[in-house]
Amino acid sequence: MTMRVAVAASGRGSNLEALLRALGPDEPARVELVLSNRADAGALERARLRGIAAEVLPDAADAVDWLARLERHRIDLVVLAGYLKLVPAPVIARFRNRIVNVHPALLPSFGGLGMYGHRVHEAVLRSGARESGATVHLVEEVYDCGAILAQARVPVLPGDTPEQLAARVLEVEHRLLPAVVRAAGGAGRPVPLTEPVGSIA
Ligand code: GRF
Repeated sequence: MTMRVAVAASGRGSNLEALLRALGPDEPARVELVLSNRADAGALERARLRGIAAEVLPDAADAVDWLARLERHRIDLVVLAGYLKLVPAPVIARFRNRIVNVHPALLPSFGGLGMYGHRVHEAVLRSGARESGATVHLVEEVYDCGAILAQARVPVLPGDTPEQLAARVLEVEHRLLPAVVRAAGGAGRPVPLTEPVGSIA
């Protein structure tokens, strides 16, 4: 049975786009719903262009509303792809181990409250770390704390700007997230990726 996926995104939705491209008709998972806390999120437009349900959350903290939408679309898995709001705790509880997030650094480093967007890459550069990367993990009530399902590494190059590092990391996010969702579809639940990260195409 095809796994029914909802993607929550707050911004341009390039990770959503990568998922939509990767999850063709014969894949074990399909994006059925895109949710956003922002009516102007590019992610919503990308969904509409493909005829996928695209819904704005009038109040992103309203768990009852969240759950009603997820139930209406019979969602099995929620993917946070650049979603910048806290998912209400009752939603996390109801979808325990069925919500994944992509984070643009190698957790457990450079995660937690306030660590999003360029702040992450600025912190990595300030730290002098020689590598960064992307992490896909299960979502728990505490930010960036759930079990890690997959990571992909990129080098930090001398003279990198936050923008350059962000672009390098985004490229691996676009491969890592679809690989995790495809594996989840195959297994019927999110599972750690078994193949070496370097082989993810
Ligand atoms: C990604 O880097 C994601 O990891 C971060 O925000 C960015 C979202 O990009 N949380 P997009 O909206 O998927 O293009």
